[in-house]
Amino acid sequence: MDIHSEKIIILDFGSQTTQLIARRIREQKVYSEIHPYTLPLEKIKEMKPKGIVLSGGPASVYDDDAPLSDPALFDLGIPVLGICYGAQLMTHQLGGKVERAVKREFGKSDLELVYTGGLFAGMDTESRYQVWMSHGDRIETAPKGFVASAISEHSPMAAIRHEEKHFVGVQFHPEVAHTLIGNDVLRNFIFGICGCEPSWTMHSFIESTVVAIQEKVGSDKVICALSGGVDSAVTAALVHRAIGEQLTCIYVNNGLMRTGETKSLMKFFQEKTHLKVIDIDAEEYFLGELHSIVDPEEKRKLIGYGFIKIFEEEAKKLGDVNYLAQGTLYPDVIESVSFRGTAPIKSHHNVGGLPDIMKLDLIEPLRELFKDEVRELGLELGLPEEAIYRQPFPGPGLGIRIMGEVTKERLHILRQADVIVLEEMKKSEYYRKVWQSFAVLLPIQTVGVMGDERTYEHVVALRSVDSVDAMTADWSRLPYDLLGRISNRIINEVRGVNRVVFDISSKPPSTIEWE
Ligand code: XMP
Repeated sequence: MDIHSEKIIILDFGSQTTQLIARRIREQKVYSEIHPYTLPLEKIKEMKPKGIVLSGGPASVYDDDAPLSDPALFDLGIPVLGICYGAQLMTHQLGGKVERAVKREFGKSDLELVYTGGLFAGMDTESRYQVWMSHGDRIETAPKGFVASAISEHSPMAAIRHEEKHFVGVQFHPEVAHTLIGNDVLRNFIFGICGCEPSWTMHSFIESTVVAIQEKVGSDKVICALSGGVDSAVTAALVHRAIGEQLTCIYVNNGLMRTGETKSLMKFFQEKTHLKVIDIDAEEYFLGELHSIVDPEEKRKLIGYGFIKIFEEEAKKLGDVNYLAQGTLYPDVIESVSFRGTAPIKSHHNVGGLPDIMKLDLIEPLRELFKDEVRELGLELGLPEEAIYRQPFPGPGLGIRIMGEVTKERLHILRQADVIVLEEMKKSEYYRKVWQSFAVLLPIQTVGVMGDERTYEHVVALRSVDSVDAMTADWSRLPYDLLGRISNRIINEVRGVNRVVFDISSKPPSTIEWE
């Protein structure tokens, strides 16, 4: 079965949780994709979706510049689910009435059902269901043909439906975890109302992507930069599955990697696959370039430029390469288009500049996937768990975790501290619970006392953050014991360090990396 034939499209009206809607639907093994609400009707028709979701959004339907959908959307004969603003919009555009709520509803709310079919199949009218609301406006009068399915304390129309047309609307957010019936509601929409079949599995994704890559590439050559991270490893494994020997990977050791960061991955590729990897040791080059550089942006530019230069040289040696495989993920794709359909400013990390310079066509087989799906795919492709659940690591590596000049000595100190952080995080099982955890070497020395001697040595900062997408993050509430163990071990085991501090800043305003 074509994995895209059973598709739900989500029209984005600017909600913070639009991506979550897509993820929750895909968890049910139905493919879903997000588009700006301005997506032309013709395009929607071409896509032949089995259902359409209108997302929430910050606007009020009465705002002067309120984002509206094409009214003809409601004549396509396709089931529609409106969520929050989406439900109000549907109400407004189909002739019902939306008003400012007397009392705004934010946070948890109890939902009482007056109908137990459609979205609420399998539920009952006696129970009260916890849902999560976030709205200032509310549906006052449902449009013609619609009736209420559920009420909440401040919303007499907390859910509405049009039986024949298969239109449903909810004031609450089924996509967030606090809505305890959220998954049931979405399941009822995609399977019950839209009649989808669950066809989106990683197994079927591999099958169809392999064929697509083979058709695109033909007998041409492809290169791929391995960074040691999950995305590039999975990209390489997938492209290799499709075209085997035609793929060559290039791994540039810039001397700024963590201890053993890429070793296990290389070992896997060498022992378990027949992937060709050109392993370039460019440590001396990079450290030479970084000599006496202290400005963070200058460091980043030098490292990025060095990477491109070496990559380009190696690609030239290979001759007649036509494609570059890259691990671009779905959030990168959607984030580069705002919900109003225009491109916001987004600075690209890493290899973003490569294709322009090298005139290579891109292969981005992960473009449709979220990070958790990439992990699932990696496991399905047989990559080791250790590589799959690795925390993200920045392209410029330890270079931006050493404040001030990057030298071999300072790299040596940071690497030892970093290993301790990772070991203790893994032992306590916090390694997988947090988004990232690492050590940073500060450019100052402080006074301490070891044995009977006064010391004047380096300070290491510990950074650990919780996040879902790195756009925002909060410092991890690690147990004191764990913090204590990490600090003790670093001070005792790493020569040249006599103090450890813990970073308690959130992003924003601080960033995750220190430079
Ligand atoms: P910041 O420091 O901007 O980091 O809050 C957000 C996330 O991105 C990672 N990061 C990078 N990743 N190349 C990358 O591939 C880079 O230049 C880069 N800079 C930051 C960072 O580790 C965090 O996960």
